[in-house]
Amino acid sequence: MVDDLAARFEHTVASEARIEPRDWMPDGYRRTLIRQIAQHAHSEIIGMQPEGNWISRAPSLRRKAILLAKVQDEAGHGLYLYAATETLGADRGELTEKLIDGKQKYSSIFNYPTLTFADMGVIGWLVDGAAICNQVPLCRTSYGPYARAMIRICKEESFHQRQGYELLMTMMRGTQAQRDMVQDAVDRWWWPSLMMFGPPDEESSNTEQSMAWRIKRNTNDELRQKYVDMSMPQAAKLGVTFPDPELKWNPERGHHDFGQPDWEEFWQVVGGHGPCNSQRVAHRRKAHEDGAWVREAAAAHAAKARRSQEG
Ligand code: 3HC
Repeated sequence: MVDDLAARFEHTVASEARIEPRDWMPDGYRRTLIRQIAQHAHSEIIGMQPEGNWISRAPSLRRKAILLAKVQDEAGHGLYLYAATETLGADRGELTEKLIDGKQKYSSIFNYPTLTFADMGVIGWLVDGAAICNQVPLCRTSYGPYARAMIRICKEESFHQRQGYELLMTMMRGTQAQRDMVQDAVDRWWWPSLMMFGPPDEESSNTEQSMAWRIKRNTNDELRQKYVDMSMPQAAKLGVTFPDPELKWNPERGHHDFGQPDWEEFWQVVGGHGPCNSQRVAHRRKAHEDGAWVREAAAAHAAKARRSQEG
């Protein structure tokens, strides 16, 4: 019986069809999906902090409105993704506890400080640009609810990237001080953006199995290369440079050669020892604790409604 179910699972994945919540799936497939989708959701929620910090400091009402909309979008992305984990039997309260207790991860990129308003533009351009590069393939991931969530999320990420690039274009048409501010932000965010794609393939413990299950559709290094190739002409148009002396077009490869991020730094940040890790997690813990009364009130209201229905 299980052999038939396993054969049907394999056939569904191999034929590019979708695995749905009620379908049989290997325990490892379920665990991998909960791990990846939960950490993706955590990244969206934690990612609200660095940008949220600038909403009250935005230089105009227009910039404030755009940033407010973007941060609200990230909250929505987190809720979509937590909802996708719940279709796999996960409990979002437990996932939040795991995040707060350091038992689950979120993207390393959000552990760096946002020092000037140019960082808002560079995060939109480079960080949301990396997210698009990494997540458009996930619209074809084998698990149905995740693939469908990614379609809408990627559309909104495109708005995030464009608003960031437009912000930087405006600053580059400004004073020399504003142009220097943009270049400084690019210098600080370039290498951490490359780290968003994960460790080099040979150090990626999950890629092989995730690719076999068609959860992941490309390897970390494939997407990192695509991102570098995509970013170079955008940087040229903007009039900024990346802080990598090895970054140059290689006609034989048909791609840009580039240097390697500091993987020691990457593992330090992933391990909780980045510039802002403790601040980000403490903020998330406080928000969760401050919101306990809302969860209790909602649960009491739901219980009361159930009792009145049961008569
Ligand atoms: N930050 C933190 N942890 C990372 C990481 C990063 N940038 N890159 C890899 N890791 C972790 C992995 O989670 C894994 O640890 P785990 O087994 O405990 O989960 C370990 O390092 C080894 O990495 P692998 O390459 O083996 O892990 P994956 O196969 O899961 O690949 C990934 C990592 C490419 C991030 C993949 O999980 C993925 O594509 N996830 C979905 C996309 C996502 O989460 N993006 C977050 C970006 S933030 C964002 O999109 C918000 C937007 O608004 C900017």
